Amino acid sequence: MSYYLIKTVLGWLFLIMGIAAVTSMLTVMGKQEKKMPAPKLRRIHHGAGRVFFLLMLINAVMGFRFWVVSGDTLSFRAVLHAMLALGLVIILFLKVAIVKRFQNLLRYAPTLGMIVFSLGFVVFLISGGFFTARALAVAPERADVEGAAAVEPAGNAENGAALFAAKCSACHFADREEAKFGPGLADLLNKERLPSSGRPATRENVKSQILKPYQSMPAFTDLSEEEIADLLAYLGSL
Ligand code: HEC
Repeated sequence: MSYYLIKTVLGWLFLIMGIAAVTSMLTVMGKQEKKMPAPKLRRIHHGAGRVFFLLMLINAVMGFRFWVVSGDTLSFRAVLHAMLALGLVIILFLKVAIVKRFQNLLRYAPTLGMIVFSLGFVVFLISGGFFTARALAVAPERADVEGAAAVEPAGNAENGAALFAAKCSACHFADREEAKFGPGLADLLNKERLPSSGRPATRENVKSQILKPYQSMPAFTDLSEEEIADLLAYLGSL
């Protein structure tokens, strides 16, 4: 499974746990007649809250590693996601601290809890929610396999290998199908479909991935036509 797919699945679980935690506590505190006894609802709140907390930490560590590898090439959406997520981590830690240690401030816990849920929802929507909607909306495009190759420069696989090591290897294995941050690219051009988008595995589509990536991969618009041809020659030689 690719990095972003794992993170999206964790994101969905995170959202579901958030909904369970918030609705159970809203029922305990805000409703006269409850279908379930209050102690049971509290247990649901604590259980779901713990899983929510754990998923948040896993997602934060994964996101942080992605950030370190991507450096300053993060998209605006990713930066927004990271900043809001950081706020979420801090507010959730504050809330847990109040509940466990500073009980004179307990009256603030419900408000903080609702802020945590709302912020978590937004953080999810601009990452996992966005990727899910996009995966549902973007049908694999058709590409004309013959047309593109004729006008391209031939490319030098050795230069391509050096470029790959410098620009791509942080996120991709060239010789394995296993995913790093992005999918493994072994045998890429001999396959029928590209691993993430499902578009036909043509040179033109790989080139378009480098210049205008499908999802969260940074764009490499500074590469020249020749350098891209070198990369393609390298990827084709594996
Ligand atoms: C910061 C991490 C990162 C770097 C650096 C990176 N990629 Fe990717 N790549 C990804 C991710 C994540 C995906 C999954 C699809 C997406 O997000 O666009 C991906 C997907 C791909 C795909 C599959 C696209 C598809 O349509 O299925 C190809 C091909 C690819 N990358 C080639 C490259 C090449 C060539 C380079 C170097 C010029 C590179 N990548 C650098 C993260 C990266």
